[in-house]
Amino acid sequence: MKRIILITGGAGFIGSHVIRRFVRRYPEYTIVNADKLTYAGNLGNLSDIDREPNYHFRRVDIVDKQAVSALFGEFRFDGVIHLAAESHVDRSITSPDEFIYTNIIGTVNLLTAFRDTATERDVRKLFYHISTDEVYGSLEHGGFFTEQTPYDPRSPYSASKASSDHMARAFGNTYGLPFVISNCSNNYGPNQFPEKLIPLTINNIKTGKPIPVYGKGENIRDWLYVEDHASAIDVIFHAGKPGDTYNVGGDNEWKNIDLVRLLCKVMDEKLGRVTGSSEKLITYVTDRAGHDLRYAIDSSKLQKELGWRPSVTFEQGLRMTVDWYLSNEQWLETIISGAYSKYYQEMYGNR
Ligand code: NAD
Ligand code: DAU
Repeated sequence: MKRIILITGGAGFIGSHVIRRFVRRYPEYTIVNADKLTYAGNLGNLSDIDREPNYHFRRVDIVDKQAVSALFGEFRFDGVIHLAAESHVDRSITSPDEFIYTNIIGTVNLLTAFRDTATERDVRKLFYHISTDEVYGSLEHGGFFTEQTPYDPRSPYSASKASSDHMARAFGNTYGLPFVISNCSNNYGPNQFPEKLIPLTINNIKTGKPIPVYGKGENIRDWLYVEDHASAIDVIFHAGKPGDTYNVGGDNEWKNIDLVRLLCKVMDEKLGRVTGSSEKLITYVTDRAGHDLRYAIDSSKLQKELGWRPSVTFEQGLRMTVDWYLSNEQWLETIISGAYSKYYQEMYGNR
């Protein structure tokens, strides 16, 4: 079936994996990637598919209502998969404004444009909003986030994402807009911007820089390989029940310090260094303000109802990720120069 699908934030980490999957698996679909290309957006992430006839890129800031309107005038979308966002918690702590504009206002602009223009063709219209497990707040040691867990966002980032989830539900309830939401745990894999824990650690080990571990390294995250998130998005977009929410997670909890130690071990092996040499780089630094202790997702609804399963073990995924970063030095170099280097200096000084 022919479809015209808008994917926002497709030049970012997760978005680029979703775009690649859809462009390759569904040649009958027209895939439009709308991205502002902020510091986190990199068209180089898509260089292997950007000449495919079913792929189109438009540089659009979703905060700009007129630009969004023009985009929806150019294409009669019957589906939207909305990933564009400011995504880094630390940046939301230092400068929350951009998170409010992009994550809340940008989402409302897209919802409004889709409500006003969704085609009447005989296809399943759907606004799919990609969200995070962080909207549920922080867990102590025990229990999991389910789709019924009350919202309790605790950082400007998670509060802006929670707000956008509420807006998607409000458009569903008020205007009958068909929507679906998924809330996913921490992703890792190729093309992740090196401000996030795993690529930052890989890069610092490679270059012999201290590895900054916040607080005592006791915080826990549930890690999922990015391509398994992309496969969940594919399944939910095609078979998810409109109006429903699906939690996506790896059932793979790691204390930060244990994860960093594992990465040190893998990196020593890959770089042919003496075992234990990278661990010496671990440096405990001031904790993140309001640092959530633990996230853990119960994804049994998605598994039971839609048959989704992660395909990669953490050991495999981490090794594939390390291999990718070690063989894509140019990608990292390009990113680490310029604006990111200024951010790193402000966050971690000369460490
Ligand atoms: P990312 O920061 O790597 O990429 C975000 C993309 O959005 C970039 O390409 C950027 O240029 C674009 N963008 C930002 N502001 C924009 C604007 N105003 N207009 C148009 N484009 C804009 O993010 P990511 O890690 O790939 O996350 C993608 C989505 O998935 C986000 O909505 C995030 O909240 C959600 N999510 C991320 C994770 C994770 O672990 N990374 C987990 C769960 C959910
Ligand atoms: O849970 C899903 C969320 O995961 C997504 O919604 C966010 O977009 C994504 O950025 C991620 O948020 P986190 O804050 O969990 O990811 P980050 O990689 O920034 O940090 C992971 C953990 O590691 C967290 O407990 C903070 C810690 N950390 C992070 C950095 C960057 C460190 O100890 N040192 C660091 O230098």
